[in-house]
Amino acid sequence: MNTFKKGFLWGGAVAANQVEGAYNVNGKGLSVSDVIPNGLIGEKHYKVESGVYYPNHDAIEFYYRYKEDLALMAEMGFTCFRTSINWTRIFPKGDELEPNEEGLKFYDELFAEMLRLGIEPVVTISHYETPLYLVDHYGGWTNRKLIYFYLHYCEVIFTRYKDKVKYWMTFNEINAIHFIPFAAGGIRIPANGNKLQSVFQASHHMFIASSLAVQMGHKINNDFQIGCMLTLSTMYPATCKPEDVLGTYQMKKRSWYFSDVMMRGYYPSYAKQMWEQYNIEIVMEEEDEDILKKGTCDYIGFSYYRSSLYEDGMVIMGDTAGNTGTSNPYLDTTPWGWQIDPIGLRLVCNEIYDRYQAPLFIVENGLGTIDKLEKDGSIQDDYRIDYVKSHLKEVHAAMQEGCDIMGYTYWGCIDIVSAGTGEMKKRYGLIYVDRDNEGNGTLERRKKKSFDWYREVIATNGQSL
Ligand code: BG6
Repeated sequence: MNTFKKGFLWGGAVAANQVEGAYNVNGKGLSVSDVIPNGLIGEKHYKVESGVYYPNHDAIEFYYRYKEDLALMAEMGFTCFRTSINWTRIFPKGDELEPNEEGLKFYDELFAEMLRLGIEPVVTISHYETPLYLVDHYGGWTNRKLIYFYLHYCEVIFTRYKDKVKYWMTFNEINAIHFIPFAAGGIRIPANGNKLQSVFQASHHMFIASSLAVQMGHKINNDFQIGCMLTLSTMYPATCKPEDVLGTYQMKKRSWYFSDVMMRGYYPSYAKQMWEQYNIEIVMEEEDEDILKKGTCDYIGFSYYRSSLYEDGMVIMGDTAGNTGTSNPYLDTTPWGWQIDPIGLRLVCNEIYDRYQAPLFIVENGLGTIDKLEKDGSIQDDYRIDYVKSHLKEVHAAMQEGCDIMGYTYWGCIDIVSAGTGEMKKRYGLIYVDRDNEGNGTLERRKKKSFDWYREVIATNGQSL
């Protein structure tokens, strides 16, 4: 196979709240992810309840062990590493004027260590880490004030890290807000509340915040590359019935609604019909149109894990990422019910590149499954190698077909707490971490078989695939 293009960014990805632990250390405040013991789709608490185990409060203690972990990533040859800044380390409540210096120092050191090892930081500004205080006192992103708190946070981190970080993303999986409004938008929907109205309004505020952040970032450092980030696992029609084919296309537009605004700088023509259909009234300020126009993103970051099938009548609001849909008989499925579909990734690259003609960055893709520690201490994860190999081959094919792809960061390159379910048992890592669902284990790190395999892929710039 030909090599990938020169300068292709090879690496791995995590999110602060799934690895760092130290959830209340050195002035850190609570974020939405700190009060969900069973992951994003489980119950949500208003505070940290005593007697409840929250797996991500300690996670894998990356906060204390990042040097050891980055050294392993450097050994694999990573040229980039994606993580998020945990917003509440910098602004514990979210509405303060002064940032928390201890929090800023942590990321100073983290980014310096990455650069020392030749690893380019790729930073998500908010990865399901909205401060809980902003949820409880302002109603999360439904409140326009959040735009200004977020921008203040951006100004602080852009200025502080302007010579260390070049690649940024404004919101992780922004289109997941329909599916997980609490995590993605800091919104608590009351039992009889109008969920859709809240979600559409909150999304509008996030679009404005993202556009203003892009404009501000470029002023602080013109070299910044600031992307949007969507979950774009894909959907196929369940049959060739025209209703299924048309319906699938229309459901995909509900994800593209987000990238359309963030990449083109205006609401797509089909938005109006959607708002009317669901009786949505979005409150906008006069200047919003202009803000959106001036702050389009530089690239599209996205996650891709799986695909599913659409059947006539299914309703999907903004996230076609396989949470809804039926199974495809042609595909294998993980123990968590996620269907493995490398060609789907190539399809998404083509669809999105053709739609925007802007660079793509595959910032999440990976296999979450059960790993077995052998008697000799090894982990023979050939299934993970197969998963990554087959996906990367399709990424390569998409590039041959003309898609401009900046890089690939394998999700959960080290075992982390699952975002969806809060489990450790659902392992993604190329590096094993000795910790179980109940928090037992030494936290010792071990290389899995896939570690050496990925190192070879990177060393040959993809030729060994
Ligand atoms: C993405 C999220 O949706 O999927 C990550 O951005 C998450 O935070 C990943 O970890 C995989 O999901 P899960 O539930 O297997 O952790």
